[in-house]
Amino acid sequence: MVLKRSALEAAGKRYREEGISRRVRGIAVSAIKEMPLLAQNVPGCVSLGQGIPSFRTPEHIVEAVCRHLREASWTGKYTLGPGLPALRQAFAAMLHRERGLHVDPETDICITVGAMEGLCAAILTLVDPGDEVLLPSPNYASHIEQVLLAEGRPVFFPLKPEDWQLDPAALREKISSRTKALVLCHPHNPTGAVFPENALREVAELARKHGFFIICDETYDFLTYDGLSYFSLLSLPEVRRWVIGVFSFSKKYAMTGWRVGAVVADRDILDHVMKVHDAAAICAPTPSQVAALAALEGPQECVAHFRHVLQSRRDRVCSRLDRMAPHLSYIRPQGAYYVMVKTPPQAGDSMTVALRLLHEARVITIPGNAFGPGGEGHVRLSFGGTEEELDEAMDRLERWVLQNLGTQ
Ligand SMILES: Cc1ncc(COP(=O)(O)O)c(C=O)c1O
Repeated sequence: MVLKRSALEAAGKRYREEGISRRVRGIAVSAIKEMPLLAQNVPGCVSLGQGIPSFRTPEHIVEAVCRHLREASWTGKYTLGPGLPALRQAFAAMLHRERGLHVDPETDICITVGAMEGLCAAILTLVDPGDEVLLPSPNYASHIEQVLLAEGRPVFFPLKPEDWQLDPAALREKISSRTKALVLCHPHNPTGAVFPENALREVAELARKHGFFIICDETYDFLTYDGLSYFSLLSLPEVRRWVIGVFSFSKKYAMTGWRVGAVVADRDILDHVMKVHDAAAICAPTPSQVAALAALEGPQECVAHFRHVLQSRRDRVCSRLDRMAPHLSYIRPQGAYYVMVKTPPQAGDSMTVALRLLHEARVITIPGNAFGPGGEGHVRLSFGGTEEELDEAMDRLERWVLQNLGTQ
């Protein structure tokens, strides 16, 4: 069991235990979602917390949905469980165009309620109670909770602390006869690391040799900076039958609230994922699938624009953090839109620092311990917000640092 203090519990919330399943007692709402809840009671907060890009959903997507709602005979109805055939075809075509992947839209794709439902369905499909699931540390908080929900055992392997890079040797050390799967997300949340092809190939070889699955969380696949290329384990034919890809429309098309994503796997695995999807969701919301189809079929300039703007926001936040050295330090993100900021031990543990920043500086951050043991001693900042929000938040952070850490 992972020992962690939930942000709500740290702020005094008590949970009923009686009658609640062991599975559910063993998990927590991630601090990523708890911190904004706590912030509701702190007027005038600025958020560097949850990873919500500031962009509006592009107009052509909104327009396509409005047209659909007014005109389509099937408005307001369920779709087929795996999703609209046209959307699956467009998704397969995108995977072929952008990645060179051959995926059968009839049998290998299921449209889900965001990447989140896809991840949960994939983990519930593979993991039996007591099975071990390898997770990098630090790691996206919800992967940990999903493994616990399946009554699996999260087994953490450290990313290299000097650059947050993937260390296949550290992963190899944690493989056991109970290892069932690895959940890997890159560009990585919460560190912004992008893993190179050679390290990923080593990991693929370990999966093949030891026979464990890899669940690839591809939520930020479009978002690398400085022209860095992106390599996905899905493109390796030798491990194809061991890999489940989980995709998201949330960040790529500024569609976080539409809740639409996709799972891609060989049909013999996807048939089982579909059973979980049916039990949990029936299908992804129909208007959101129409939005996703418009996103795939429409102009793609918005994706390059988001990447460009987010790279300049990364630079903006990093140059402000540079001014706060040596009190704070960080590793420059290469992708996604998060940076893990290391705080000095005198400031307290990561939950204490995040709660102090919330109440004393009125800045929402996410405590590093929410991302597993490797996140302790850090807070995660998201730079998805507007330039004005980022400047205001960084002003407040800098003042707080000077007042509270300046003499240490
Ligand atoms: C790594 C990672 N996976 C999955 C998700 C959830 O994506 P979606 O909105 O598609 O459910 C997020 C959201 O922030 C994320 O950062």
